[in-house]
Amino acid sequence: MIFRQLFDPVSSTYTYLLAERSGGEALIIDPVLDRVDQYLQLVRELDLKLVMAVDTHIHADHVTGLGKLRSASGCASAMGEHSAAECVSLRFREGETLKADGVRLDVLYTPGHTDDSYSFVMGDRVFTGDTLLIRGTGRTDFQNGDPGAQYDSLFHKLLVLPEDTLVYPAHDYEGRTCSSIGEEKRHNPRLQVASRQEYVDRMNALRLDPPRLMDIAVPANRACGMEQVA
Ligand SMILES: [Fe+2]
Repeated sequence: MIFRQLFDPVSSTYTYLLAERSGGEALIIDPVLDRVDQYLQLVRELDLKLVMAVDTHIHADHVTGLGKLRSASGCASAMGEHSAAECVSLRFREGETLKADGVRLDVLYTPGHTDDSYSFVMGDRVFTGDTLLIRGTGRTDFQNGDPGAQYDSLFHKLLVLPEDTLVYPAHDYEGRTCSSIGEEKRHNPRLQVASRQEYVDRMNALRLDPPRLMDIAVPANRACGMEQVA
């Protein structure tokens, strides 16, 4: 198994390059536009054929590399059926499986951070986007965010996975690279709530500054990062 967790220090984004073996097909999750050349070099060095680039949701804090990767490698660009991105070549929905040779990603629809947020289960691990972060959860105050929907996604879809499932989020701002479902259940402060309403109230009480790049990143990402936005 080839599993590479790549990091963009500007936006603290984790990008994942996945393949079963050298010489085989590869899939990349949440690529950052400014890092595309680095990903393509790694793909070449590992003798991989990139067949799919996937975003967990429309990001507000960085411009996606989906479009540039598609032009450079001919890979499919994929987002969920709820995404407002017009530019993708493939749309997935919950219950489907994304495949690249021996890699299998089972699709879960996990709205709340945004209404187009998805997570992907790959065997013993789950890619949680901005739905479940390490010791945190994604904010719900823009892009059709909904704390009640996020509670349902967290408690009814992600936290019901086996406790030793490894958690790989789309971001971490403290250098933490990986967690597990059991660890987050016990130690994630946002998850220590007695009810859905308590979670909603807690999220609604947060007062956060808008992401620095939101006005640039969201429109650009609807075009898969391929259009200049003033
Ligand atoms: Fe996000």
